[in-house]
Amino acid sequence: MITQDEVCNVQTMTEAEKYALLKEVIVDYERKESNLIQILHMAQAIFGYVPAQVQHFIADQMELSVSKVNSVLTFYSFFSTQPKGKYTVSVCLGTACYVRGGKDVLGKLKSVLGIDVGSTTEDKIFSLSVMRCIGACGLAPAMTINNKVYKQVNPNKIQRILGMLK
Ligand code: FES
Repeated sequence: MITQDEVCNVQTMTEAEKYALLKEVIVDYERKESNLIQILHMAQAIFGYVPAQVQHFIADQMELSVSKVNSVLTFYSFFSTQPKGKYTVSVCLGTACYVRGGKDVLGKLKSVLGIDVGSTTEDKIFSLSVMRCIGACGLAPAMTINNKVYKQVNPNKIQRILGMLK
């Protein structure tokens, strides 16, 4: 079975080595369609995202259609088919955050970053996504930047928060 250390070393791997590691993962998961989500998770950990070329590789190795792999991939918001920026900004649009201004926070982020949900800025610094409740409803609206949670986010604070990261 592939270890976490092997996945952690991917930054120093060549493309060929990454594909070899992914092939090992697929073999470990016995090429079973029921393991496709776990395989996609590992593919994303190895490549950072799951581009078309990797989707084709997985489909080929598992003897599945590319459309099957792509449909599972695009169904779940935690998978990305585009390279992510250095910082992933995720806005909670769960009920509490939505009614307390999450939509305005998202609107402000879109306008400040100049991108839509699911996209990355041209300088590859920021990616923008949305998510469901993260359990911080009492201090809504909430958002995260990578693993850090920001609570009671006000659209007016967005520029300053992003500025501190750059
Ligand atoms: S709805 Fe956003 S943290 Fe719960």
